Amino acid sequence: MSDQKTATQGAADTVTLVDNKTGKSYEFPVLDGTEGPRVIDIGKLYAQTGMFTFDPGYTSTGSCESQITYIDGDKGVLLHRGYPIKELADKSDFMEVCYLLLYGDLPNAATKAKFEKAITYHTMLHEQLINFFRGFRRDAHPMAVMCGAVGALSAFYHDSTDIRDERQRMIASHRLIAKMPTIAAMAYKYSIGQPFVYPRNELSYAENFLHMMFAVPAEEYKINPVLAKAMDRIFILHADHEQNASTSTVRLAGSSGANPFACIAAGIASLWGPAHGGANEAVLNMLGEIGTKDRVAEFVARAKDKDDPFRLMGFGHRVYKNYDPRATVMRQTCYEVLEELGVENEPLLDLAMELERIALEDDYFVERKLYPNVDFYSGIILRAMGFPTSMFTVLFAVARTVGWIAQWKEMIEDPSQRIGRPRQLYTGQNQRSYTPLDQRG
Ligand code: CMC
Repeated sequence: MSDQKTATQGAADTVTLVDNKTGKSYEFPVLDGTEGPRVIDIGKLYAQTGMFTFDPGYTSTGSCESQITYIDGDKGVLLHRGYPIKELADKSDFMEVCYLLLYGDLPNAATKAKFEKAITYHTMLHEQLINFFRGFRRDAHPMAVMCGAVGALSAFYHDSTDIRDERQRMIASHRLIAKMPTIAAMAYKYSIGQPFVYPRNELSYAENFLHMMFAVPAEEYKINPVLAKAMDRIFILHADHEQNASTSTVRLAGSSGANPFACIAAGIASLWGPAHGGANEAVLNMLGEIGTKDRVAEFVARAKDKDDPFRLMGFGHRVYKNYDPRATVMRQTCYEVLEELGVENEPLLDLAMELERIALEDDYFVERKLYPNVDFYSGIILRAMGFPTSMFTVLFAVARTVGWIAQWKEMIEDPSQRIGRPRQLYTGQNQRSYTPLDQRG
């Protein structure tokens, strides 16, 4: 892939801003990407007008140019490097998707084998890093452990923290993708008091993760291929999602020149919140609280009540105003996993489907275009596979690491990259003089 910028501007493609107070007008270029709405380039707005834009929550603000992922929220489309997510989930595998996100194209057989070897080479952790886990309380939330352990990587791998060195950037990217499952599984093993299980490089990425999570030294662990496939697909579905909160956090942290391990730790912190990656855990807690189908209507009413902070977790999305295409694949995977495990009757799935049915018929949800998102069904699958609820967001972090690092790499390799520094609308005190303590009322 070339690093060439692809945004274009037609000759007459400008917008005019008229300041009604002064009567002055200003012209700004309008850019076209390969897909998506046109974009007004306001880079010179402050210099020309002396004004900033105001857009809390960034509902109308593009923060960067990117060639990695495209979402059409109205149509429910998600493309990675141009490939629809459903095709990738059906036909590809996670390692291939990692390569695609990082390097721009699908690998051929030889490149794929080389990439997989490069990743598996880095699956182990520095043995001293393992002491970090023992410093945490056993009942610590595994996302807390992830923030700490991933941040600590920068204290161990000094030979891949020079962000100006292309080779070091590549090694750091491979290390992060390779070590995240090991860190995640160790966080889990520590929490239940079992010995750590070391990675096995003859296994696939998903198989290795399941092995490190569920094997014990006393017995042989047989990997179920259907579950390994489901795990791989779940990783694909979470791999990237353009400029969401955690990815923007990674980019902003990285824009100052911070090392990639520190940036990914920042991304993990952002992902943890229930409005973002923490939603998968929150969905299961919500379904547990609802308990039975006859209480669904009561909870839907609460979600609609503006005086009640309760929201339907796993519903709604800033960009999707249609069914999240990842949720469609996730629901299908949910059936496959439950069938494989011989679960004929999963009350939580029945409950989730009833909740979805009632919400999708309700005017409140219809008018606001609130549909199930990726987190709505993932928890049910993960629970059936044996993951505790507290690990759900950790799995999201494992999968999203490739998206974060691909976006970070794209940013660092962009010659026009500068430190990210938003401005503000200040509504605090005007300048005033300091009052000595003995003169304050
Ligand atoms: N339940 C009830 N009402 C909702 C919900 C919901 N889940 N989501 C949005 N609304 C309402 C909201 O009250 C508002 O109503 P009104 O216009 O009357 O004030 C309207 O819909 C628009 O909501 P918003 O909060 O302005 O939308 P947003 O784009 O800022 O928030 C969201 C997006 C995902 C944070 C939000 O939909 C939400 O909190 N959903 C539940 C949490 C969740 O499932 N998060 C996972 C997102 S997908 C995976 C990921 O990104 O990690």
